[in-house]
Amino acid sequence: MTARITGIGTYVPDKIVTNDELAKIMETSDEWIVSRTGIHERRISITEGTRELALKAARNALAAAKTEPEELDIIILGTSSPDYHYPSDACYVQGELGAGNAAAFDISAACSGFIFAMNIVRGFFEAGIYKTGLIIGAETLSKVTNWSDRSTSVLFGDGAGAAVLKAGETGIIDMIMGSDGTMGDVLKCPSRTMGNFLTGEKPEAGFMTMDGQAVFKFAVKKIPETIELLLERNHLAKEDITYYVLHQANERIIEAAARRIREPMEKFPMTIGEYGNTSTASIPLLLSHMERQGMLKPGQKIIMSGFGAGMTWGAALVQWV
Ligand code: COA
Repeated sequence: MTARITGIGTYVPDKIVTNDELAKIMETSDEWIVSRTGIHERRISITEGTRELALKAARNALAAAKTEPEELDIIILGTSSPDYHYPSDACYVQGELGAGNAAAFDISAACSGFIFAMNIVRGFFEAGIYKTGLIIGAETLSKVTNWSDRSTSVLFGDGAGAAVLKAGETGIIDMIMGSDGTMGDVLKCPSRTMGNFLTGEKPEAGFMTMDGQAVFKFAVKKIPETIELLLERNHLAKEDITYYVLHQANERIIEAAARRIREPMEKFPMTIGEYGNTSTASIPLLLSHMERQGMLKPGQKIIMSGFGAGMTWGAALVQWV
């Protein structure tokens, strides 16, 4: 028994922010951003939080999968920018959907969150515990972005993507998950500073910081490693893979990964240009784009691969059903 995706849904805020608009509030330019990242624009939420984006993506995924909320056994929401410490954004979604039979919780695996959520649900299916799950990647990173730090703020965007998973004989073939906590300082966002009646300090909200070059090097090494491991242990050749659906962090990272595994760029679809890096939402946003373009066909084998703060990484070899 494994898990297969039976419906994908997405939602992004209406507000498009172009590179030129960012150049009005910080020292940057469209030329710098496009040449270093491939990003042209991103969506920024004005009023909707992570849970609202997640809920809308979830509703779209359920409609696409023709699944009723009551059928769901489990809802897992991956996010690095939850609206609340508790209750979880997943519980909010569960309540709003009326998915009363589902256990719901958030996970924190940064940009690998969608892949991690998929693997957890697959595990429940393989163990025969659950049959229907909803996984969501949702972010309003704009609220944890330091808008006076041009080296991070131009990279990220807000959005959400969700997928309904059902237990079946075909679908996910194999998955990888990994973490390296010794690299935690490379990309981080503290929740709140310490502060209480003993210190006399008021806790302050934290903002994201990043060593961009260290992340770049990590990604360019890790993505090919996960792809090659999946191919090797499933006795597959690169020719067997139709698409590599990579976390959309930077066009140059994707190009470097493609060069390392000697695969053509046509096999690496991208949405980084229009959404920027939406962290946990980037893989489902890309899958949805591919679906709308008619690129996904039953029988195709695709590899999804993500990496992010932690550091974390994850990959999935999937036969599209
Ligand atoms: N606009 C204009 N100049 C900028 C800038 C911006 N938005 N951000 C940084 N710069 C400047 C720097 O200050 C630096 O100037 P200096 O040489 O005068 O000091 C110069 O550009 C080069 O900076 P550097 O950090 O070396 O650039 P880079 O080529 O490494 O590109 C990233 C920076 C962030 C685009 C790149 O490192 C990257 O994409 N890393 C991966 C990040 C990522 O994917 N994170 C998410 C992981 S899930």
